[in-house]
Amino acid sequence: MPRHIFRLILVILVCVVVGYGAKRFFTVNSFYEYGHYRGDSVADIASDKPKFKGVGYCASCHAKQTAEWSNGVHNSSDIGKIVKCEVCHGAGGERDVLGPFEASATGADHPNNLKMVVPTDTRKLCTFCHERMTGRPLQQRQIVVADHAGTQQCIVCHNPHSPKLNLTPVAEAAAQAGDPIVGKAKAAACAGCHGAEGVSRNLPGPSLAGQNAAYFAEALKAYGTGGRNNPMMSPAAQGMNAEDTGHLAAYFSGLKCEAAPASDAQAVLAGKAIASKCTACHGADGRAGNGAWPNLAGQSKDYLVNAIKAYKGGARNNGMMAGIVKDLNDSDAESVATYYASAACK
Ligand code: HEC
Ligand code: HEC
Ligand code: HEC
Ligand code: HEC
Ligand code: HEC
Ligand code: HEC
Repeated sequence: MPRHIFRLILVILVCVVVGYGAKRFFTVNSFYEYGHYRGDSVADIASDKPKFKGVGYCASCHAKQTAEWSNGVHNSSDIGKIVKCEVCHGAGGERDVLGPFEASATGADHPNNLKMVVPTDTRKLCTFCHERMTGRPLQQRQIVVADHAGTQQCIVCHNPHSPKLNLTPVAEAAAQAGDPIVGKAKAAACAGCHGAEGVSRNLPGPSLAGQNAAYFAEALKAYGTGGRNNPMMSPAAQGMNAEDTGHLAAYFSGLKCEAAPASDAQAVLAGKAIASKCTACHGADGRAGNGAWPNLAGQSKDYLVNAIKAYKGGARNNGMMAGIVKDLNDSDAESVATYYASAACK
């Protein structure tokens, strides 16, 4: 045998021996126990628990979120369930680093070298616990997602850190501060567009009679500061002081609104079905439960349709309404406006 062939065989043999040795030395015994897997890894992963840091840890740096959460429904122990920060954001301490070269029992921590998850798909996150399911305990409130939220993200309407909506009437500070008799005198300037008794009929402005005082005052303020814009209305509101606003709010909120006679019975019926999406905030009868939100009962249909369009187009800005009108097509808007325009005034 020529020498170079002998050397070649020797090199191949050495490689085989080194390769086999490397395989023995660098892989664990349970490798290939279950196919191409390390049998022991299951037990390893199971023993490596996420390192939760607890709410107290987060509080020191995220005071705002912690304060909202602390007073919110997810921190109520009524039914013995508290949804802590790390349920939604993931564990704040990283897993143990165990291996041939590292054996740290603590791992990395947020915020040093670990980023927390910011949930972007809340439809997925919130429905883990809130989607209606047979057998799910009733104390944990449940919704039918399509009916309740349409295609919206949950945080359009709910603050993730304090998700319960405040639907209880707010204190109507503005109304109490105002004097309806003083307001009446000042309202003469509004009659040309809003009607003598705040009922607009076919005048250019919407009806104001019976509107919630707190909402009314906020709306006037918004025209004054540019939050709402209208070539007819904005000049009337500019320069108005908070006192006059209070008097006007007290006057108009005390008037009785007037419902339009239902012209199109079919549209009213269709509108009533759509209004099931609005009742939580605007009431089944068009009277909002919260003084900061507008009553719709007896409002002119055209104004309601225009307002819906304004939210859709972004001319009026409100997080909740923007979420709702996204799912509302033009014919739905017409019907629901017809329904509320003809809703009985109390
Ligand atoms: C020592 C202060 C500190 C503590 C304690 C802390 N954070 Fe943070 N957190 C920060 C800082 C600083 C940032 C911004 C980091 C960045 O922008 O890279 C941040 C960012 C975040 C973010 C945004 C996503 C990201 O990583 O940028 C979330 C969510 C968050 N923290 C949640 C938590 C939660 C939940 C806890 C409790 C387990 C917690 N944090 C504890 C300082 C802290
Ligand atoms: C029910 C789930 C949930 C719980 C519980 C929760 N969060 Fe959040 N958190 C969210 C969601 C969803 C967002 C994203 C909000 C958004 O995009 O407007 C968020 C955003 C944040 C942010 C801002 C991140 C960024 O950069 O926008 C911080 C910081 C934060 N949470 C900290 C906390 C702390 C601290 C706690 C506990 C006191 C907590 N969260 C509890 C769901 C939750
Ligand atoms: C890990 C499960 C869990 C997740 C995730 C969760 N929740 Fe909750 N939620 C609960 C429990 C449990 C309660 C009831 C707490 C109590 O009343 O003591 C609750 C209460 C509520 C309530 C108040 C219901 C009522 O009227 O009493 C609302 C609203 C709510 N959650 C919305 C949300 C939203 C929005 C999200 C997503 C950002 C979310 N939840 C994520 C478990 C969860
Ligand atoms: C368009 C606004 C809006 C959106 C989007 C929305 N909600 Fe609500 N949600 C409300 C209102 C308003 C209430 C209060 C209803 C009431 O008390 O009658 C409510 C109540 C709830 C309740 C308490 C129900 C009960 O029976 O007491 C839960 C749970 C809830 N929402 C979860 C969610 C979840 C999860 C999502 C996302 C899939 C979501 N919501 C999206 C407006 C919304
Ligand atoms: C030149 C006509 C005109 C005059 C005068 C006028 N308004 Fe208006 N007002 C309007 C129009 C038009 C709108 C609807 C604007 C829009 O779509 O945003 C409106 C809207 C409003 C709204 C919001 C109603 C809602 O439901 O959101 C309030 C509140 C209001 N006016 C109060 C007043 C008061 C109070 C006065 C008298 C000091 C007054 N307006 C004078 C034309 C007028
Ligand atoms: C989660 C609460 C909520 C729900 C549900 C809701 N709205 Fe609203 N809506 C509001 C708030 C808050 C405002 C006041 C926003 C602003 O200041 O511009 C408003 C304003 C309006 C206005 C303007 C009223 C005016 O006087 O200018 C119309 C019209 C309206 N909503 C129609 C609807 C219709 C139709 C639905 C159902 C398809 C609906 N809303 C569902 C909260 C809600």
